[in-house]
Amino acid sequence: MSSAVMSRAVRTRWWWFLWGLLAVLALATAGVFVPPYLVGGTTVPNLDRITPGYYTSLVMHAVPAGLALVIGPFQFVPKLRARFPRAHRVMGRVYLVSVVVAALVAVYSSVVTKSGFPLQVAFFVLIVAWLYTAAKAYRAIRRREVRLHRIWMVRNYALTFAAVTLRLYQLPLIALMNSVTWLEYKDVYTVSAWMSLLGNVLVAEYFIIQRTLAPLVRREAVTANPG
Ligand code: HEM
Repeated sequence: MSSAVMSRAVRTRWWWFLWGLLAVLALATAGVFVPPYLVGGTTVPNLDRITPGYYTSLVMHAVPAGLALVIGPFQFVPKLRARFPRAHRVMGRVYLVSVVVAALVAVYSSVVTKSGFPLQVAFFVLIVAWLYTAAKAYRAIRRREVRLHRIWMVRNYALTFAAVTLRLYQLPLIALMNSVTWLEYKDVYTVSAWMSLLGNVLVAEYFIIQRTLAPLVRREAVTANPG
């Protein structure tokens, strides 16, 4: 087997490994954190049940956000897109509507949350970026700009996936609360939210450059200098 074929096989295997990890983490996060809200519960310790409308806003936010989280990974599989183009379009619309509803409802949750100003800023940055990237992705596909649509969807899903990385960062930080007495859950939440927002954006941009822009530049260079 030539080294080019070998490296393509290795890359494909890596792609599937990373996709599998992403899908499992997305399904697990939605499966653990969203269902309690369908039956009047929560996994959050001492959740504020007094502020009017706050709990309802979490239900109205978590359900569509969880749906978007679960749909996302399947939209990125090229074979599924090619075999079931209609399903891709329908699920794409469900995804985008879910993101818009979840983001708009999160405006209320962010305003009334007692989690502190730095966390509120992180939520507002996320909300604006979530809506902006969704609008750009939709506009690109309406104009039949498929590659651009894909780039904006990678950016958008990276923000959706912040719900997963946020909870992953929380795990060691919550464990740290046992030994660091001044550390409060509020601080853990704030640090995790900012880390997930910034970290996911960086990973998404790296992925876009590696998988979409770099091959394009290489192809253009070959066309310009065929010898
Ligand atoms: C990326 C855009 C997102 C934004 C801006 C956002 C915003 C928020 C806000 C403001 C709250 C209330 C937190 C508080 O009062 O301290 C919240 C809670 C929640 N969000 Fe999101 N969220 C996003 C994505 C997601 C996704 C994709 C899911 C899917 C699982 C999700 C699931 C939840 C859940 C279950 C809660 C209730 C708290 C909990 O049980 O952990 N969110 N979100």
